[in-house]
Amino acid sequence: MEKIVKTKIWTVDKHVNNLLDSEAIAEAARLLQENEVVAFPTETVYGLGGNAYSDEAIEKIFHAKGRPSDNPLIVHIYSKKQLHDIAQHVPKLAEPLIDSFWPGPLTIILPKTEAISEKATAGLATVAVRMPDHPVALALLEKANVPIAAPSANRSGKPSPTTAQHVLEDLRDKIAGIVDGGKTDVGVESTVIDVTGSQIEILRPGGITREQIEAAAGKENVKQQSSIIGAVKSPGMKYTHYSPNAPLYLVLSKERIYELIAEEKAKGKRVGVLTTEENIDNYEADCVFACGKRTDLATVASQLYESLRQFDVEEVDVIISEAFPKEGIGAAIMNRLEKAAAKIIQ
Ligand code: TXA
Ligand code: MG
Repeated sequence: MEKIVKTKIWTVDKHVNNLLDSEAIAEAARLLQENEVVAFPTETVYGLGGNAYSDEAIEKIFHAKGRPSDNPLIVHIYSKKQLHDIAQHVPKLAEPLIDSFWPGPLTIILPKTEAISEKATAGLATVAVRMPDHPVALALLEKANVPIAAPSANRSGKPSPTTAQHVLEDLRDKIAGIVDGGKTDVGVESTVIDVTGSQIEILRPGGITREQIEAAAGKENVKQQSSIIGAVKSPGMKYTHYSPNAPLYLVLSKERIYELIAEEKAKGKRVGVLTTEENIDNYEADCVFACGKRTDLATVASQLYESLRQFDVEEVDVIISEAFPKEGIGAAIMNRLEKAAAKIIQ
């Protein structure tokens, strides 16, 4: 029988400087130590945390999200000293990246120790690790004092949550609690890299850009993208992701967007368009959302998931999205849009 819980919500101001003394953080940390699952903010998106040593906690995460059990989780730490407990060693390639980008939106795949639940890593010999750059997350991780496995706190397949409200929409009464620390900053998930080979390989583009990784580690140490699609190395990449209810068409040419709006309207469809502030007045559709400014792709990243969720609220029948240059954070934005898309149209 399914256990009914009433999700507890704590509101925490991320700017106060005594977060470690906060009763809310202490209570949330206690629940994590009791192998309950609790959502919390990071600089990227909200995560759904559980004790990474506990099979029971990890099962609760997979169950609440409806996540396929072969898709491993990221383990979160607040201090480098925790690395000894979870990773067998840290390859040399990772060192300049840890120094440059932790705490921050960079997840590093390392050889795992026995202590980490096999369910968290989906039976792999490696574990994905990151140190989030968010005062509330860091305080919670320190107070819990165990490594915390945390996927994004959305129902599997939905856009990731950037507010506590999004977490509630997806997981109300399926999880023990939510620490509400306000809207997240980066808006797309961390970059996932593999450092267990001879070069750094980017498995998922995210908050730290390829350009930043190349500058910190040396371009020669970063594997260039191959056009040949090989085996799926980051298991999560094979699933449908980030999808709003209506089908999304990612459209690469502007002219084609105008034609598609007309075609869909002629079919009697309620049409949504995803654009940026520069172009908001250019489209005649049922609902047009600007996510950020095209001249500042970081603003697009930070508003992307919220905009996708807004189309669900508006109950559109089809979403037509502009495309973005795949440079800097644009690579992560396009990766998420391509995965959310039902069709990519030239
Ligand atoms: O920003 C983020 O990374 C957020 C916040 C909450 O930290 N977390 C997040 O987790 O995005 P999730 O579970 O939604 O994505 C984890 C990704 C998946 O694509 C998964 O397949 C990959 O990391 N991954 C995890 N462990 C791995 C491993 N051992 N080897 C390869 N890929 C791994
Ligand atoms: Mg996710």
